[in-house]
Amino acid sequence: MGEPEHDFSDHVIPFYGGVDRRMFAIERRAMDRDGRVVEFLDGALPRARVLDVGAGDGHTAELLSRGGRTVVAMEPDGRMIDRSKDLTWVRGVAQDIPFRDDAFAGAYATWAFFLSGTPDADIEVGVREMDRVVVSGGPLIIIDNAGGDEFTALADHPIAGDGARWERLGFESHIIDTSFRFDTLEEARELIAFYFGEATAAGLDSREIGFRVFAHVGRSGRPGTEG
Ligand SMILES: C[S@@+](CC[C@H](N)C(=O)[O-])C[C@H]1O[C@@H](n2cnc3c(N)ncnc32)[C@H](O)[C@@H]1O
Repeated sequence: MGEPEHDFSDHVIPFYGGVDRRMFAIERRAMDRDGRVVEFLDGALPRARVLDVGAGDGHTAELLSRGGRTVVAMEPDGRMIDRSKDLTWVRGVAQDIPFRDDAFAGAYATWAFFLSGTPDADIEVGVREMDRVVVSGGPLIIIDNAGGDEFTALADHPIAGDGARWERLGFESHIIDTSFRFDTLEEARELIAFYFGEATAAGLDSREIGFRVFAHVGRSGRPGTEG
């Protein structure tokens, strides 16, 4: 018997990665190539059982599965799931996490679900769910674009996250300075054309693009208490 098919379609933010695996591989290889985000998460998450919300292909979950930490990779889009990675995979959405209360010592999401453009109501439900499944005092960490950098300047519409929202929810925001560093200028232009159009990509003259990232850190039991 195969695994049951759930219909999460009303709750899922569409993402291209499951359809265009090659382009996603370029993105994941170049984004935060020096591992600054993983380094931050590794320092902030306990060496115990933690949840990755919107794990994509499990890139970050795999890197964080070390030193006594196990990461459960939750992802709604079956096409994103890479079962060749030695992870525990679960299908699920942030708004309805399929685990009991206090099942994890911490939880995080990297550029998944809690993005600018996601309706406030959905974000609040997702935060409450993360809060519920993490033991009191355990870290909840949201990684998102911070803006004010070379990368977000390439877009003709806002693609930075909303720092004030996370402050209101009781999170403390940190900035991580990282970059997209591509293997070649051609790869850089290919991904930037895909995101922002050919004209923007044609103007690129470096295979490295500066990228500032937010790490919003909360504690279970605190977020969502604004009423
Ligand atoms: C930009 S990708 C990031 C993937 C991965 N976290 C990473 O850093 O490579 C966004 C991911 O969020 C997932 N996603 C979309 N809607 C979601 C939801 N409601 N709850 C959890 N994850 C969701 C998508 O399927 C996709 O895999």
